[in-house]
Amino acid sequence: MRAKTAVVLGAQWGDEGKGKIVDVLSDGFSAVARYAGGHNAGHTVIISGQKFVLQLIPCGVLRPNCMGIIGNGVVLDPIAFLKEVARIRELGVDVDGQLRVSNRAQVILPYHRMIELAAESAPGRQKIGTTSRGIGPAYEDKMARSGLRVVDLLNPALLKTHIEAACAEKNAIVHALYGTEPLDPQKMFDEYAAAAEQVRPFVVDGARMLNGIIKDGGSVMFEGAQGTMLDIDHGTYPFVTSSSATAGGAATGTGVGPTNIGTVISVTKAYVTRVGEGPFPTEIHDPIGDHLRARGNEYGAVTGRPRRCGWLDIPLLRYSNTINGAEWLVVTKMDVLDELDEIPICIGYEIDGKVTDEIPADVHGLEAIKPVYTKLKGWQSSTEGITDFERLPRAAQDYLRFQEKESGAKIGMVSTGPDRDQTMILPEFAEILKELHR
Ligand code: GDP
Ligand code: IMO
Ligand code: MG
Repeated sequence: MRAKTAVVLGAQWGDEGKGKIVDVLSDGFSAVARYAGGHNAGHTVIISGQKFVLQLIPCGVLRPNCMGIIGNGVVLDPIAFLKEVARIRELGVDVDGQLRVSNRAQVILPYHRMIELAAESAPGRQKIGTTSRGIGPAYEDKMARSGLRVVDLLNPALLKTHIEAACAEKNAIVHALYGTEPLDPQKMFDEYAAAAEQVRPFVVDGARMLNGIIKDGGSVMFEGAQGTMLDIDHGTYPFVTSSSATAGGAATGTGVGPTNIGTVISVTKAYVTRVGEGPFPTEIHDPIGDHLRARGNEYGAVTGRPRRCGWLDIPLLRYSNTINGAEWLVVTKMDVLDELDEIPICIGYEIDGKVTDEIPADVHGLEAIKPVYTKLKGWQSSTEGITDFERLPRAAQDYLRFQEKESGAKIGMVSTGPDRDQTMILPEFAEILKELHR
C-alpha cells in the first residue's frame, strides 16, 4: 500500500502561502513534520479572522488531533522555540500534547547569529540579505561536524564543553576578522542549560516516531519551508538559504525513506515574490509592482521587509516541478490580481539573443535573462473567497488553465484569500485527499 504521505513545498523563493495550505490540508492528517530551515520561516495561518504566524512549529498543531514534529533537518534556536511555544500555547493550542522535536535536529547558538551579522555587513563579502537568525552558520557547523544537536543540548556536561570550545574558536575568529566583541561562554551555558530543561519534554526520536505513524497506517504531511529557488543545491546559489527546501529534503530532513514519500504538492503564488538579494528575472520595476505589494500585503512575516514582486515565471515553475517531482500545483493569492486589466506571464527566456528554457546555474547567467512575456486578459472583478472553480470569472479560469498546461502539473487547489475558508479544492484533487486521510 502506498504510504499516506504528502510533501507541501514552495515553488519559488518562499512565502507562497505554504502555511495556509498546510493548515487547510492537515485536517485529517495524523502528523505534520517540518524538514528544513528554522525560524527564518514565517508561515501565516488565518482561521476565522484569527492570525497565527508559525516559524518553527509545524502548522498541523492548529488541528486538535494532529501531531507537529520538528525534523532532524531543521536548525532549532531553543530560545526562539520556547518563545514560539509560549505564544502558541497562549492562543489555546495544546502544544505540549501535540508538538515534538527530533533529537537529531541541530541547535542554533548565539555565536551563529554573531558570525552571520558580522559577515553579512563585512566589506568585500557577498551580501545575501539573510533573515539574521544564524541559520547559515548553524548549517555550516552541521556539515563541518562541529554542530550541537538537540540530544547533546540535553546533556549539561557536553553542552558546557561544547560551548566553551566553540566560543574559544568563534570569538577569536570573529574578533580577528570583524572586531566583534566576544560572547561569554558561562552566561551562554547558564541560559541554554536552563532552556534545555524546557525543551526536554518535547524531544523524541523523530524518524522513529514518523515511521511508526506511517507503519500504523497514519498520514503524514511534510511541511516545506523557504522555496525551491532558495534550496542550497537547486536554487539561485549563492542567494539561497542553507538547507534542502526541495522535495528530497523531506526524506533526509525527517528520516522517512523516499519510498514512503507519496504525493508532492507545490505551492505557487499567482505571481512571484522574493525577499533579500539575488537574481529575479521577472521582477517588476514599475508601479504595478507597488500595487501587488500593497494589494498582496507583501511584507516579510518574520522580518517585515518589503517583498520584491514579479510576474509568474513558467520556465522557473517547470524547473521547480521537475526538481520536486511535483504532480500537483496549488495556486495562491489569485485575488491579488483582481484589478489588473492584463497579466503578463513569462513563457520563455532569452539569454544573449538566444531563446532557451534551461535555467542558468550561475548568477551571471540568471541576471542575463530577458524574460519573454505573453499577456493574458485580466478579469477585473472580485475572486475573493470564491470556493468553486466554475464560479471564477472566465479569464481567471483561463489564467489557471494556462499555468497548468505550461508547467506540466495539475492544479489541485486555488486560494482566493488568506483565510482557511477562502480555498477551493478541485474534484480530482479531492479524491487524492480522501486516499491520504487516515
Ligand atoms: P509561507 O511562508 O509560504 O507560509 O507564506 P507567508 O505566510 O509568509 O506569506 C503568505 C501571505 O499571504 C500571508 O500573509 C497569508 O496570510 C497570505 N495569503 C495566503 N493565501 C492568500 C490568498 O489566497 N490571498 C491573499 N490575499 N492572501 C493570502
Ligand atoms: P518561508 O518558509 C522567504 C531568504 C532570505 C534570504 C535567504 C537566506 O516563510 O517561505 P537565511 O536567513 O535563510 O540564511 O536567508 O533566504 N529566506 C526566505 N524568504 N521566505 C522564507 O521562508 C525564507 N527563509 C529564508 O530572505 O534571501
Ligand atoms: Mg513566509
